[in-house]
Amino acid sequence: MNVLAIAAQKGGVGKTTTAVYTANYVAQSLGATAELPLVGVIDREETRNLTKLARLGEAGLAPGVILLPGYDVPRDHPTLRLVVVDTPPGYMAIKSLEEANLVVIPAIPESNGIVNLIDYLKLLDDAKVSVNPRLRLVAVLPTMVMNNDLHRQRLAEIKAIAGRRRPPLVVLDPIPRRIDIARYKPSPAYATAATEMMRHAAIR
Ligand SMILES: Nc1ncnc2c1ncn2[C@@H]1O[C@H](COP(=O)(O)OP(=O)(O)O)[C@@H](O)[C@H]1O
Ligand SMILES: [Mg+2]
Repeated sequence: MNVLAIAAQKGGVGKTTTAVYTANYVAQSLGATAELPLVGVIDREETRNLTKLARLGEAGLAPGVILLPGYDVPRDHPTLRLVVVDTPPGYMAIKSLEEANLVVIPAIPESNGIVNLIDYLKLLDDAKVSVNPRLRLVAVLPTMVMNNDLHRQRLAEIKAIAGRRRPPLVVLDPIPRRIDIARYKPSPAYATAATEMMRHAAIR
């Protein structure tokens, strides 16, 4: 069972949104059904954002995705192939980084976002050394990207930061800022991101 932490240094960068879309699209492409759930989601935010959204039906979880109770990753599960962990921002994420074997980092291409990304990559490198050598940085996912020069420039900076790492860190195709995405409508951008995450992380 793979455990994918969606983690970033700060709030409001699209972690919960990314967790929901990723779980849904991975479940769909694995052929999960209500009778055969293959993807689990864990809501580790104290605000219980994902739980509230799922209960209200706003962030609909696809058939084949189950919201796991509590905060803990199950040791074993008869059907799940992937557990997506929606992680709180900042250093409280350590528990997720301890338990995950995969991590995806959503990042908004803005100046403080870049500083946060650099800091967060340092934290992840430290976590890899001291708490979990199995942890694999799958990719950075640029989120809430707008069609303007500032965002294009910041996106290029994110790619440069990722490209300087050894091995180079994958930067997925950006997720646009769209009201439809805030409303959890079907999103081709997230469908592509989920497919690419599965490919890079070898989730089958
Ligand atoms: N691509 C997007 N376009 C527009 N709004 C978005 C997008 N991604 C997330 N949002 C909205 O931005 C806010 C923060 O996103 P959220 O996923 O809750 O971030 P986090 O979990 O990192 O705090 C939410 O209101 C969400 O609906
Ligand atoms: Mg959140």
